[in-house]
Amino acid sequence: MSYETEWRARFGQETGVPADVPEAPWLRQVLMRRTHRRYAERTVPSSLLRLLLAAAFSASSKSDFQQASVIHVEDPSVRKRLAGLVPDMPWIDTAPVFLVFCGDAHRLERIGELRGHSVDNGKLEGFFNATVDAALTLQTFILAAETVGLGCCPISVIRNHADAVAAILELPEKVFPVAGLCLGYPAVAGHISMRLPLEVTLHTNRYDEARLGEAVDAYDRRRDARYSIPREQQRSSEVFGHTAFYGWSEDKARQATEPEGLSFSAYLRAHGFVME
Ligand SMILES: Cc1cc2nc3c(=O)[nH]c(=O)nc-3n(C[C@H](O)[C@H](O)[C@H](O)COP(=O)(O)O)c2cc1C
Repeated sequence: MSYETEWRARFGQETGVPADVPEAPWLRQVLMRRTHRRYAERTVPSSLLRLLLAAAFSASSKSDFQQASVIHVEDPSVRKRLAGLVPDMPWIDTAPVFLVFCGDAHRLERIGELRGHSVDNGKLEGFFNATVDAALTLQTFILAAETVGLGCCPISVIRNHADAVAAILELPEKVFPVAGLCLGYPAVAGHISMRLPLEVTLHTNRYDEARLGEAVDAYDRRRDARYSIPREQQRSSEVFGHTAFYGWSEDKARQATEPEGLSFSAYLRAHGFVME
């Protein structure tokens, strides 16, 4: 079986398609997956949502510590307050379901209290483990939801308002938002976001970036052939000007020059974490 169609959709090229591999419809679906930000006016049954959450919490968990928590934002007034923090992403308000996936380093300390052991889970290790657990739970939820025809959009920008989010959701110390998640039946087909080729992201036996420059150039061209970023969308042109060819790497390099998450770092330090 060949995954050529899906491979081309994901990477924009035919090279490297594995041969002699088992047929698995779910793998085809994962290769073709995409984020959805527009949703049909169709309710997601609460029983289905519960099943998807059960699947999500089936994700692997570091040391079986189970340090993810999800807040299901059911109250429209609570949702409005969250959506109001990020007015340029209206899908936070319009999605049929909105969840907030949190790293939860707090619960392990509470469990320590229940069993009479003093647990300090507020160091970098505790933060990192809780973050990874929450991320795995988030992605497992997304893949489970997509399996039954739903679409999702993670929302990490809420971390730029972590204090307000924590106040609205009444998060205790050492519980922090990793990302919100919009969920609903897709209103439109959407499009596949092309990924860097495995020659960039996969290394064999040792880290090797010898051909990074040319591989990224070729990737930029493939992406541009499918979808060109319009000139008026060249980021921070007042600082960097316009370029004749504006590809993914120029866009992401410009984006990454802008600091993000400074308030999140302050939030974590003010809410029980010591990053050592
Ligand atoms: C942790 C995380 C946070 C994200 N945060 C946002 C967000 O705040 N707003 C948004 O519209 N999309 C967000 N996204 C969606 C990404 O933009 C999207 O996954 C990326 O462009 C690749 O597209 P694809 O998922 O369709 O392949 C987020 C994705 C992840 C994994």
